[in-house]
Amino acid sequence: MKIAVVGTGYVGLVTGTCFAETGNQVVCVDIDERKVKMLQGGEIPIYEPGLDVLFDRNVAEGRLQFTTNLSEGIKEAEVIFLALPTPPGEDGSADLKYILKVADDLGNILDHYAVVIDKSTVPVGTAEKVTAAIAKNAKVDFDVVSNPEFLREGVAVEDFMKPDRVVVGTTSAKAKKIMEKLYAPLVRQGNPVIFMDERSAEMTKYAANSFLAMKITFMNEIANLCEKVGANVDDIRRGIGTDSRIGKRFLFAGIGYGGSCFPKDVQALAKTSADYDYDFRILKSVMDVNYDQKKKLLPMVNSYFNNDLKGKTIAVWGLAFKPYTDDIREAPALENIEALLQAGAQVVVYDPEAMANVKGLLGDQITYCHTPYAALDDADGLMIFTEWPQFRTPEFDKMGKLLKNKVIFDGRNLYELEQMKELGYTYFSIGRGC
Ligand code: UGA
Repeated sequence: MKIAVVGTGYVGLVTGTCFAETGNQVVCVDIDERKVKMLQGGEIPIYEPGLDVLFDRNVAEGRLQFTTNLSEGIKEAEVIFLALPTPPGEDGSADLKYILKVADDLGNILDHYAVVIDKSTVPVGTAEKVTAAIAKNAKVDFDVVSNPEFLREGVAVEDFMKPDRVVVGTTSAKAKKIMEKLYAPLVRQGNPVIFMDERSAEMTKYAANSFLAMKITFMNEIANLCEKVGANVDDIRRGIGTDSRIGKRFLFAGIGYGGSCFPKDVQALAKTSADYDYDFRILKSVMDVNYDQKKKLLPMVNSYFNNDLKGKTIAVWGLAFKPYTDDIREAPALENIEALLQAGAQVVVYDPEAMANVKGLLGDQITYCHTPYAALDDADGLMIFTEWPQFRTPEFDKMGKLLKNKVIFDGRNLYELEQMKELGYTYFSIGRGC
């Protein structure tokens, strides 16, 4: 099949590369010349484990190409993916200007039937808007399909190649057939392609992300209550997660959810609800709780240092919003670092992937180290914001010698309480007492 993917962000690039891997001829289109040059030169602008191997192979075998020219990119393409940004506007709603601009252009240049696929997370009713924008000038027949993606950053390639399910919103029999053919190699193990109408597919994506954000937030609230009643949230997680109706995953309490998806999508669904005059109360609570949760460790730090952080040096492990990514969008680490700086502390950081991105934002306000241990040298305490595997079993003795005080504020519950006690650390974590 000939496929065009418009937008080479993380979704577009993973989609294009993985469909090339299943034997299709893929052209990725982007207006950013610098990015396209980079991609043409064999360089991937994002960090996504496993993507490089597939990218290199498919570029080398001529199945994956890049261009800035939309007409060239969509030439003879049977399907055209729109994987464009939908940044939140001031009122929380998703801004569709990039998608609608490309839809406008497609109306002018399409010269054959194609299925145009909304891959970006877009509000209910977008497929209709995209259809109208293309139809304004279209000279040929086309269908617009909603096909939301459920990839997690860091494991996007695996999620794409082995999806739990594929959701396709279309009321066109012709488009349905093409979508079935396209996804057939990825659902051979029986994982379903679920067909529904366009609006339901658009809503499914928001419902999935908001539900997951709610699940995490619920556990964060349980954790907060555990601290008050003297219970341990790890035990609660194990106790309830084994109930198959609840499920084991996404029950880890911590310093709140971040990233480019959950915060934006929960906010956008709340906005949609308001637009349709529905008071979606749970969503409001999820946003409120998460806002506070991100700052959860700060009172512990302040109290440990008697509300005086001036001149103190705080080491930080983990900047990315989660492991296996360099993404720092809505990362809890950032807000915490800013609060520490404002309180007069010096901040020394280490992250295996995200330091360059943070440097672009905070510059010389903080110190960057090449190893986790270098960040601890003479620091007054350690804060942990991302559960990178290398932080899970560190050399505690070495850490103790480097740190001025053996104190750890852990936003990801990485260590056992008993072990920390035995090692002589003052250990703060979430929902497990001190
Ligand atoms: C999320 C969804 O999981 C994907 O299905 C979806 O496709 C994607 O958004 C999207 O809309 O593009 P992602 O944002 O990459 O994926 O990351 P997640 O692994 O879902 O983590 C989101 C946040 O929740 C992170 O801040 C993570 O630390 C936090 N989290 C996750 C917890 O605090 N506890 C958990 O148990 C799980």
